[in-house]
Amino acid sequence: MTSDYFDRVEAAARFLRGRLAEVPSIAVVLGSGLGAFAERLDGALRVPYTEIPHWPASTVVGHAGTLVCGASASRRVLTLAGRAHVYEGHDLPTVTFGTRVLGRLGVKTLVLTNAAGGINTSFTPGTLMVIDDHINLMGSNPLVGPNDERFGVRFPDMTEVYAPRLRAIVDEAASAAGVAVRHGIYVGLHGPSYETPAEIRFLRTIGADAVGMSTVPEAIVARHMGLDVLGISCITNPAAGVLPEPLHHDEVMEAARRVSGEFMALLEAIVARV
Ligand code: HPA
Repeated sequence: MTSDYFDRVEAAARFLRGRLAEVPSIAVVLGSGLGAFAERLDGALRVPYTEIPHWPASTVVGHAGTLVCGASASRRVLTLAGRAHVYEGHDLPTVTFGTRVLGRLGVKTLVLTNAAGGINTSFTPGTLMVIDDHINLMGSNPLVGPNDERFGVRFPDMTEVYAPRLRAIVDEAASAAGVAVRHGIYVGLHGPSYETPAEIRFLRTIGADAVGMSTVPEAIVARHMGLDVLGISCITNPAAGVLPEPLHHDEVMEAARRVSGEFMALLEAIVARV
């Protein structure tokens, strides 16, 4: 990581400090089809990514590409509706640029959400899974390269990437909101092709419950900077080979939208408790 990268992160953070009256202590990254939460925030300030210096554009359908700051149940929250992915051709420091900016802005708690395929056969489309831990199969790590101590240490501990305290808060929030949640292990692959049935059998064997193409790099970088991380996967489809049917991105988006009401109720209950 070059000092030039640090300077770009600082430039984006400085720009946002000038736009936001106050930086909330909690931020939420909204996954594919889960952007509705940002549309419902009260007194929202919206900043398109294109206006933020050095911020990578997100090109995927279903990702808005807007930073939204507003109140959920009277708690102020920063949301990123849309994220950069490796499969778009971005390198990992670019994918995690937004996370770096959030950390430098002073955000303390980062909630990462995503759409994911269900490897665990007891998951159905619409299952909300609290990420207990992850497996990084992206083929690289966002911290590769010279370490910038202003972000964090060279060899950060990853024993508890997803804070036990926050995972417990989700269980409490879920029962208060009347929403069912499951827990499991998320495996991150870089995509963009979906997995083969043989890969899904392999991933199940190594202990994964859900598979997706995001979250892992952001979680690593957030921990590098000392943020507390919470991860929630919305299971949008049975993973490849679980059912004898091909996968389509449209179905993923549709399933995420269908569960969006429950998902928003859960997020609101979480934000109120963190
Ligand atoms: N695989 C990988 N990523 C995904 C899937 C999947 O089945 N569903 C949603 N994101």
